[in-house]
Amino acid sequence: MRKSFILLLVLAGQQTLYAQKIPSIVGPGKAINPYRYSIVKKADYRNASVSSAHPLASMVGAAIMKKGGNAFDAAIATQLALAVVYPGAGNIGGGGFLLGRKTNGELIGIDYREAAPEKAGRDMYLDKNGNVQLTLSQNGHLASGIPGTVAGLFATMPYAKLPFAQLIQPAIDLAEKGFAITEREASGLNASKASFIKYSTRPGAFVKETGWKTGDTLVQKELAATLKRIQKDGAMGFYGGTTAQLIVEEMQRGNGIISIDDLKNYTAKLRNPIGFDYRGYRIVSFAPPSSGGILIAQMLKMIEKYPVKDYGFQTAKSVQLMVEAERRAYADRAEHLGDPDFYKVPVHTLISENYLQQRMSDYTPDRAGSSAGVRAGVIRESEETTHLSIVDAAGNMVAVTTTLNGGYGSHTVVAGAGFIMNNEMDDFSAKPGVPNMYGAIGGEANAIIPGKRMLSSMTPTLVLKNNKPYVVIGTPGGTTIPTSVFQGIVNIIDFGMSADDAVNKPKFHHQWYPDEVALEKDFNPDVKKQLQAMGYKLTERGAIGRTEAIRLLPNGKRETIADKRGDDAVAGF
Ligand code: GLY
Repeated sequence: MRKSFILLLVLAGQQTLYAQKIPSIVGPGKAINPYRYSIVKKADYRNASVSSAHPLASMVGAAIMKKGGNAFDAAIATQLALAVVYPGAGNIGGGGFLLGRKTNGELIGIDYREAAPEKAGRDMYLDKNGNVQLTLSQNGHLASGIPGTVAGLFATMPYAKLPFAQLIQPAIDLAEKGFAITEREASGLNASKASFIKYSTRPGAFVKETGWKTGDTLVQKELAATLKRIQKDGAMGFYGGTTAQLIVEEMQRGNGIISIDDLKNYTAKLRNPIGFDYRGYRIVSFAPPSSGGILIAQMLKMIEKYPVKDYGFQTAKSVQLMVEAERRAYADRAEHLGDPDFYKVPVHTLISENYLQQRMSDYTPDRAGSSAGVRAGVIRESEETTHLSIVDAAGNMVAVTTTLNGGYGSHTVVAGAGFIMNNEMDDFSAKPGVPNMYGAIGGEANAIIPGKRMLSSMTPTLVLKNNKPYVVIGTPGGTTIPTSVFQGIVNIIDFGMSADDAVNKPKFHHQWYPDEVALEKDFNPDVKKQLQAMGYKLTERGAIGRTEAIRLLPNGKRETIADKRGDDAVAGF
């Protein structure tokens, strides 16, 4: 008894010693000054490139590579930093997908999507008249799936080089000592103040009585303590012990249903990526439970036989063709896609040449199709997901898309643990044919079942040229994610654009229903008129996506681009 007590003391001592040995890279005068930083939108780096939604997170990823880490180390550290500096979408209370390619060509797909709790059920969001109560799937305690991010980070560790304790330290420092918030963050937190108060029993650090201003310091002591528990106890620092207890207590205070067993039993899963050829390039993307890989495969293969390059960038002709491919792919999404562990997704057929040729057989140039006439083949929200793209010196490529779903997720802060829970349950089909917050509809394939993972649109994607790394790309944006990635790839491959133009040119989006083309406001007005003349209903919407892309150039440099649409920033060396 006495011996084990002494051993515990020794181990605790070692832990403290080890923690003390990690030199901090965050602080005034250090590699990353959290109170004074700038947003760099593009750069050509030779050794290490990171593009993410926040400059401090990108700098953390680059600094980790400078200290000997590879792209997987950087992906872990960047995600943890985002969980602190970008609380609207960076997370430990959500989930995501990591797609990686090692220099030996090995592909890695890690699925850490949230899962429905044991007490969830198909009709859990229906009232007694059978009407969906979307507010319950979108806000507050009942909206959360079992978080997957921390399991995903540990599932990435076998590919990393540095100890986890080192990778999480910058996030701990940023949470404990705080960082200066951007104008966009200040306004996001202020806009969500009422929701945090309504849907949390103790909103903690995120609510400031007098309102947030640009440059204010956001300190998250409770989150720092949670991150330290993860640093000390690994995944069980989140899925067990104090953190699990705090999550369950928070759930119980607000009629949530996540239990200790749900947390204990959650695991990340390895998935075989979706791979296909497009005009001689190899495209690799994420498999179900994301719809993303299948959708971009379908859209690209549907347009491949057309001379898109000759049609020209965003002419009425090329936009119409791409819109009709989008319409057909999203019809299939609604019918055929869901968690493959619960529903047989006909992956092979959905991306086969024959099937896709047949899907386009009723395509009529110069005339708008109709979603009423397009069924699945026979066999919207505030869009605060976030994406990061990384390439290291050796050429390892990592694309991660991770999410709380809506901006600041369910707006439920776990009291005492300092992080925000996801509202990912809304990505299930709460009732066949009823649109979720993205306007997406679904059916049996995406019905709620305990343990099942809700269908996602996240599309972390890699492109190979002559079997060598060429592009890492991905974006947030709910159902617009696959169409943004689709257009990014077409912009680079068909229109020969730089990654900068491919990311920052205006985007458009069609998702079968609603039967309309959404356009960013800087979209060419003449082309708009031509599309209207063909019979398309057009709508204008704010930013479509916030794409982070890295393109490897023949001169050995990496064109590293952060989307102009947010605080997104690049870092590297
Ligand atoms: N919550 C957004 C997505 O997974 O598609």
